[in-house]
Amino acid sequence: MSKEIVVSGIRSTGYLHLGNYFGAMKNYVKMQDEYDCYFFVADYHSLTTHPDPKDLKANVFRVAAENIACGLDPEKVALYAQSDIPEIPELYLLLNMLAYKGELEKVPTFKDKVRQQPDNVNAGLLTYPVLMAADVLIHKAVKVPVGKDQEQHVEMARNFANRFNHRYGELFPEPQPFNFGSELIKVPSLDGTGKMSKSENLNATIYLADDDDLIRKKVMKAKTDSGPTEHNSEMPEYISNIFLLMHLVSRQETVETYRSMYNNCTIRYGDMKKQLAEDMVAFIAPIRDKAAALQADEDQLKKILKEGAIKARESASKTIAAARKQIGINYY
Ligand code: TRP
Repeated sequence: MSKEIVVSGIRSTGYLHLGNYFGAMKNYVKMQDEYDCYFFVADYHSLTTHPDPKDLKANVFRVAAENIACGLDPEKVALYAQSDIPEIPELYLLLNMLAYKGELEKVPTFKDKVRQQPDNVNAGLLTYPVLMAADVLIHKAVKVPVGKDQEQHVEMARNFANRFNHRYGELFPEPQPFNFGSELIKVPSLDGTGKMSKSENLNATIYLADDDDLIRKKVMKAKTDSGPTEHNSEMPEYISNIFLLMHLVSRQETVETYRSMYNNCTIRYGDMKKQLAEDMVAFIAPIRDKAAALQADEDQLKKILKEGAIKARESASKTIAAARKQIGINYY
């Protein structure tokens, strides 16, 4: 039986952090054995915010390297750069004829961008969900692993697919947002407010590229207090966040030890943070070092992306040929 098709795009801006690891990459790695996966670096999407041309390549290579370092296996999945697949912009153009200005203007992520960058409200920003739909539909994907913030985009991809099928005949299955756990893990930031983020709370976010000392420093600065005074008392959020982080990177026994010390009021947060810092270092260091080694080996990365593009174009060219034919573009 053929495996279900999965597509997901990875933003190429910003450094990846622990939240991305547990929220997205771990999901990808789990999916690679069970599904036919297409994972790509969304470099075209990043152009909507006009990045400096001299940064683009390094960003794309870094994100690809970091994903491989986290366990994504280019032998098992197609890992490619979006801009290496010319069938994607072609499908994007075709889908643009089925996307309405009114519905695009209503998308919350578009409205956010308009607020954030009022001087650069370009058409690419408006049609961002159409390009994303093309990314997904070009491989006839049925599952799209994304975070909550992207679910509406997947719903739009579903609408465009249905409109195409309706007008030109059945071609696309309906893609659905997907994640393994029922609720994606939100990795809390170290300052007790909100979650780890690419753009805020830099000192309270652990990046996959952080060196050992920086990791230790960030963990040791995490907010604590003088400790509980009553047995089995409820944890304030900044303390339960530290436990949650420990649960992600430390051994189960370690977490339990500290939990019982919390419950009988003997916990020393300094010791707990030292332990967490060491476990965090042990968790991040191999990923960071592997990503750095890959980034230093440009030939290897180029080879991986080229092979990924070949795999992706194989599937993409079939879909675009069918789409053109169904629309009536078959003249010769
Ligand atoms: N928009 C997604 C994000 O911001 C990235 C993305 C682009 C994507 N194309 C996609 C995700 C296709 C899933 C499928 O995270």
